Amino acid sequence: MKTISVLLKENNYEIYLGRGILNKFNSFCEKKSLPKRKFFVIDENVFRLHKRYLLNFLSSEGNDIVYKFPSGEKSKSFKQISELHKVMLENKLGRDTLVVAIGGGVTGDAAGFAASIFMRGVPVVHIPTTLLAAVDSSVGGKTGINFNNTKNVIGSFYQPKFVLIDTIFFSSLPEKEITCGLGEIIKYAYLTGQNFYDEVFLSFNYFYQKDFSKTEKLIANSISVKAEVVSSDEKETGLRKILNFGHTFAHAFESELHFKIKHGEAVIAGIICALYLSHEKGFISALRLEELLSLPKKITLSSSLKKLNKEKLYNSMLSDKKNRDGKIKFVLIKEIGEILLDVETEKGEVFRSFEKMFQSI
Ligand SMILES: NC(=O)c1ccc[n+]([C@@H]2O[C@H](COP(=O)([O-])OP(=O)(O)OC[C@H]3O[C@@H](n4cnc5c(N)ncnc54)[C@H](O)[C@@H]3O)[C@@H](O)[C@H]2O)c1
Repeated sequence: MKTISVLLKENNYEIYLGRGILNKFNSFCEKKSLPKRKFFVIDENVFRLHKRYLLNFLSSEGNDIVYKFPSGEKSKSFKQISELHKVMLENKLGRDTLVVAIGGGVTGDAAGFAASIFMRGVPVVHIPTTLLAAVDSSVGGKTGINFNNTKNVIGSFYQPKFVLIDTIFFSSLPEKEITCGLGEIIKYAYLTGQNFYDEVFLSFNYFYQKDFSKTEKLIANSISVKAEVVSSDEKETGLRKILNFGHTFAHAFESELHFKIKHGEAVIAGIICALYLSHEKGFISALRLEELLSLPKKITLSSSLKKLNKEKLYNSMLSDKKNRDGKIKFVLIKEIGEILLDVETEKGEVFRSFEKMFQSI
């Protein structure tokens, strides 16, 4: 088992990663003196796919409440949060309750938010079951829901007591969910160093073969990168912006495709655009660009991206909450591990980056 610490001003916590470590859940709870009464919020698909494993685990958990959480982005809503709170109250759960979110980023974001406001906050533990949730959404304490057609616009910073990642859950992940997690892992590789990049490159197929004994180290490295960034910038005022590498573009792709593209796929397309834009700005040579593109180009992206309108994409980026002053601020790259923040560019350079990405998929 690997343990990664997230060091914060208050409330440090651990992320445990390993195969079959769900049975250590109680001992981790005891170590942290967490409440005995538990409210398990479990993604309905995860419950169905891992029923025996979960029931085995839950039966040793006494009189806890289990709620099967409807899967899908639509569950990140006030309606669903009210539903969780209603069930908590009906079951007479009080301040001495531990909320345990078992599922992907949707379950974690919603259950985390529900926990953060129930009786002014009850503790939460995340058990992420998608690769994306393991390397990204369960680390860093951002919780939230969508509102008024805007993603993640209502939420809180609310750190979990610990995160437990049992790679047994990943065995049932469909290929597209592996791609989503891999998109973020590739991003961490650019942020970190050549060795990490090379290892991701060489281990690429192991992710799709779901051989997590061979990829556990890379998953742990990815979590460490995010944990380190979050430790130094908990509330996203500075350094944490590097995590947005590829994301300025990605959010525009998602929004213009009405969220019919998975976030991770949009991130990979976004990374490709950010690399082209870095070249347009003269930060990387043509030769280096080709080398840096070789990793994200291993992934087949949806051809729907090619049909997007550049003007609409550009306007979508302008209206992103991070660019409200009328300027788009990009996270670009000079070299692996050398990231440039808040780069402003000409519209033409951005358009050419779109075009090159369209041509390359
Ligand atoms: N809080 C953050 O910092 C942060 C960061 C990145 C993304 N997010 C959010 O995370 C969400 C995306 O997360 P996600 O990709 O995990 O989506 P998700 O939670 O919707 O899970 C994707 C799908 O996989 C299914 N699933 C989950 N675990 C499975 C398993 N082990 N086997 C088979 N199927 C499984 C789910 O039922 C769902 O259908 C978005 O809402 C995004 O906004 C949050």
